[in-house]
Order: sequence, then structure tokens, then C-alpha cells
Amino acid sequence: MGLAAKMDAPRIDRGLDDIYVKETSICLVDGDRGRLVYRGFDIRDLAQHSNFEETVFILVHGRLPTREEYDMLRKGLAESRAITPDLVRLLRRMPPDAPPMDVLRTAVSYMSNFDPERDDPTRTANMRKAQRLVAKFPTIVAAHHRIREGKRPLAPNPRLGIAEDFLRMVTGKRPDPLSARIMDVALILHADHSMNASAFAAIVAASTLADLYSAIVAAIATLKGPLHGGANEAALRTMLLVGKPENAERYVLDTLANRGKIFGFGHRVYRTYDPRALILREYARQLSEKRGQEDLFRIAEILQEVTVRELKAKQIYPNVDFYSGLVYHLLGLPMDLFTPIFAVSRVSGWTAHVIEYWDDNRLVRPLDYYVGPRDAVYVPLDQRS
Ligand SMILES: CC(C)(COP(=O)(O)OP(=O)(O)OC[C@H]1O[C@@H](n2cnc3c(N)ncnc32)[C@H](O)[C@@H]1OP(=O)(O)O)[C@@H](O)C(=O)NCCC(=O)NCCS
Repeated sequence: MGLAAKMDAPRIDRGLDDIYVKETSICLVDGDRGRLVYRGFDIRDLAQHSNFEETVFILVHGRLPTREEYDMLRKGLAESRAITPDLVRLLRRMPPDAPPMDVLRTAVSYMSNFDPERDDPTRTANMRKAQRLVAKFPTIVAAHHRIREGKRPLAPNPRLGIAEDFLRMVTGKRPDPLSARIMDVALILHADHSMNASAFAAIVAASTLADLYSAIVAAIATLKGPLHGGANEAALRTMLLVGKPENAERYVLDTLANRGKIFGFGHRVYRTYDPRALILREYARQLSEKRGQEDLFRIAEILQEVTVRELKAKQIYPNVDFYSGLVYHLLGLPMDLFTPIFAVSRVSGWTAHVIEYWDDNRLVRPLDYYVGPRDAVYVPLDQRS
């Protein structure tokens, strides 16, 4: 590139780090104060008093439901939880080693063809579709997991909440109340996190006025990557690799000395403790005691203390992934379901963002700055050397 062209070059914002793409009233991530707010409600309050179903209502409607609305929502979500025998047959046709995220993506794409409202663009139809998507995600993930284990998928139990029923459909037995509550809180905490890569992917697809299913398929595809949905698995692997509490400090010091990263630490936005991590840490402690796995929690504690101490100057603190993998592991869930579980929760945020975006839609069409040749000479195939 010539000097003149270089001097004209626009500022390129790789990764769109500093670009605002919409106004929103869905989710605020306050990275300095360590606060996460859905529609004005602090997630610490929601984790203490609410449940996933109510959180879904808050995200999509922007306010607390009345008693009547709440009952209707729970009923609607429970009734929509079942998946068709045809979809179960599709899940059975997947290769046994198919990644559960890929299966979820395929299943949602398939389902869209059977939703009579797929191409109805009205807000109310989209709200209904959002509800059906939120209801069916846990059943798809659980059914596929059972099938790949050679077991029969379990039908949903509409008397149970989404979190409790999800654990039952995956493990085959009704969870104890603490496990059910922890799953519920984990779903609340992952329901949204502002304009992250998967929410943006959903917005890009939605901005073309493709349907809601297409936007959600784009979001699932984007969540799959280890830079987005997969860090909790890596954090748990670290804890298991460390093996004993007495190895934990050395692991951190050696990793940092080799300029390596400690998974589950650091965040683009948080410059202090991720509030979700603090909530899940307490649940990880309770669960590890209950399951007699105190050593694993002790390892996590030492990794946390030493990493925070060593990286204080860089403002690196544990993020949600540091504890969510540990919590899911203690709940008896396999590692490759961690990212699909993230999707089970996050589909509520994705649908909320898409519906909000369509209120004032604009096609997403950024620019790229061309630096390739401009005057290449075409040589016919038989004359090329
Ligand atoms: C999440 C993450 C990508 C954020 O990155 P970022 O905002 O671009 O911050 P940077 O990667 O530029 O990190 C700033 C500094 O802290 C260090 N740092 C950040 N996270 C670290 C970690 N987990 N372990 C060790 N050092 C870390 C970086 O090496 C860098 O040091 P330097 O300035 O000496 O080069 C990054 O913290 C990371 O890779 N974490 C591990 C993976 C993870 O847990 N992801 C889940 C996120 S929810």
C-alpha cells in the first residue's frame, strides 16, 4: 500500500471494542462497580428472590409480572416444554460424538420449519416464539444427552420449574432442593450480559428481517466458540489438573511466570469481581461440602486467592466461568453440556435483544477497508504459466 493510501486509512475498530450499536434498556454491566442489572433489577436481588421463569418475563417485557401474568407465563412455558417425536428422531440420527452445541443449533434450525408463526413479524408473535424457544431448549439439550448415553429421553414434567426439570431430564432423577435452586440461580445469572458476541450475531441476522429462529441459530453458532461460551470448561479442567490444594499456588505462579492465562479470570468489562462469580462461589462451597468434594473447592479458593494477589495491578478478578464450571460439575453435569446450558439460559436474553432491536430496526452493514490490489490483469487460463 502506498504512503498516501495509508495516510487516508480510516480508524479500524478490530473486534468493535468501542462501538455502541444500539440503545438498550435490557441489561447494564457496570464493570467498575461489579454490578449486573436486568431491566433495572440487580441480579443479586433476582438470584435471592426470583427464579428463571420470572427473569425471562423481566428481560422480555421490561418489568415484573403481576401474579396473573406470572402464573400464565409459568403455565405457558411448562406447556411448551415438550418436543415433537419427529425432533426426537432427528436427535437420534446425530452421530454419537456430535458436539451438543452443534446438535442444539441443528435442532433449533429444524424446529423453525414447523412453527406456523415463523414468518409472522409482529411483536406479539415474536414474544410467543421467544417463549417457545426458551421452553424447548432445556428439553432438546437433555433429550440429546440421554440419547447419546444410550438412554430413553425423558418427557418434561410441567409441574416442575425449568431448572429443576432440566436437571431431572439430564440425570434421570429429581434433584434435591439445593441442587434445583442452584441450577435456577445459574440460569438467572447467565440470562443476559449486554451486547456480547452471540447477542450481536443475533442482532446482525435479525437486522436483515430474517425470522427469530434464524437470529437464534446465529447466536448459538457464535456462543459455541471457546472465547465466548467455553471458558468454564477450561477453568474446571484447571482445577481437576491441579488435583490437590497444595499444588494450587505453584500452578498459578508457574503459569504466570510462563506468561500463560488462568482460565476463569479477567474480563473485558469487569475491573473488579464479577458479581455472578461471587454468587456462584457461595453455591460451589455449599455443594462441595454436600458432595464431600471440599478439596476441589479448596483448590478453587487457592487459585482465586493467588491469582487475585498476583494480578491485582492488572485488575484481574474471577469471572462467572471460574465458578460455573465447578458448580455444574458438582451438580453431576458433564463438561460438554456447560456451553449448551449457557444457551438454555441465554436464549432469553437473545430473544429480548432481537425483539428490542426490531422496534427500531436498521440493517447492520459495516465497512471494511480494502487494502488489496486494484489493477490486477486477468490472464486466460491456458496462457498462465
Ligand atoms: C477475558 C479476557 C479475554 C479479557 O481480555 P482483555 O480485556 O482483552 O484483557 P487482556 O487479555 O488484554 O489482559 C490484560 C492483561 O492482564 C493479563 N490477563 C488477563 N486475563 C488473564 C488471565 N486470565 N490470566 C493471566 N493473565 C491475564 C493479560 O495477560 C494482560 O497482561 P499484559 O498487559 O501484561 O499483556 C482475558 O482476561 C482472558 O483471556 N481470560 C481467560 C479466559 C476467560 O476466563 N474467559 C472468560 C471471559 S468471561
